[in-house]
Amino acid sequence: HDSRKEMAQDVQTFYRELPKVELHAHLNGSVSSATVEKLVASKPHLNIHQNMTAIRGGQRRTLDECFQVFKVIHQLVDSEEDVMMVAKDVIQEFAADGVKYLELRSTPREDGKTGLTKRSYVQTILEAINQCKEDGLDIDVRFLVAVDRRNGPEVAMETVKMAEDFMLSSDGAVVGLDLSGDPTVGHGKDLLLALQKAKNAGLKLALHMSEVPSQNEESELLLSLPPDRIGHGTFLHPEVGGADSLVEKVRKNNIPLELCLTSNVKGQTVPSYDKHHFLYWYQLGHPCVICTDDKGVFCTDLSQEYQLAASTFGLSNEAVWTLSQRAIACSFAPQDIKNQLEQKWTKLRPQILH
Ligand code: IMP
Ligand code: ZN
Repeated sequence: HDSRKEMAQDVQTFYRELPKVELHAHLNGSVSSATVEKLVASKPHLNIHQNMTAIRGGQRRTLDECFQVFKVIHQLVDSEEDVMMVAKDVIQEFAADGVKYLELRSTPREDGKTGLTKRSYVQTILEAINQCKEDGLDIDVRFLVAVDRRNGPEVAMETVKMAEDFMLSSDGAVVGLDLSGDPTVGHGKDLLLALQKAKNAGLKLALHMSEVPSQNEESELLLSLPPDRIGHGTFLHPEVGGADSLVEKVRKNNIPLELCLTSNVKGQTVPSYDKHHFLYWYQLGHPCVICTDDKGVFCTDLSQEYQLAASTFGLSNEAVWTLSQRAIACSFAPQDIKNQLEQKWTKLRPQILH
């Protein structure tokens, strides 16, 4: 039963047609099985099998095992050519799913064997974004440079400097910085300086926070920046070991939460869909944005995530529409793009919401 619910072809037309905003998508976690197939075929010597890169059906993995999956995907995506294909495929797939505005994020990587550098990595993604624009896809794509917390303060600082350069030279494509990576490794306090520098330079901050329990101290520190959006925030509220002071800070600064239902259930940080913290924040009237996190790894897409939220929490189509529209304001898009998106939603509404 559970696994049937998770099959993307079961998604109702309304959710597919619904115009959507995706704000939390890691590039390499978003690689579809079709793209993995192409990569596997081009690198037979790696002996990588499809089932090593995706968590299907009703399967679950520990968060640790999820991070092993990313390592496998990184082996498959190690050249400019691969990054270009992956980025274009992912953008096309989001567009085909009705996503009108997408913020992709990815950790710059280098590879001595293929000549990939951190700069050419980002440059290639930006080029893929431009090519998709030239192809006339009905999707506006922006990019967040990701800092992997595992790599410590020096790499974080280097990454911030690079992100600042790209922010100034990418014609508005690079809008912010992400903090992600295995939440059990490293501490936010070592990265605070780099994050502060990014913020001062005008980069928006989307930070993974309280993804696992017992990170109250770190979350308190990160909230002092404060960030512009929070990824997951699973353990912020006191009912799950968080703290009232954390919730108050998030509410006072009105910091939107990026919520990824299937990712959290399959990664086992949330016991079941109905126990997802979406409900807690949604009931408070706090800005919540439904996102996929890693649509490839977790075998989902944004339409399906909206449908899961609706069926789990009993949201009407009207409420789902409002949820998707409110995501526009939470994006890091410039104001004129936000206005254009609002107009698009207004125009589509009578066709889709009947
Ligand atoms: P990439 O940055 O495009 O290579 O996407 C994969 C990377 O995203 C992983 O290696 C992690 O650093 C990060 N990532 C993906 N999903 C999560 C998550 O749920 N929590 C924290 N980090 C994540
Ligand atoms: Zn994430």
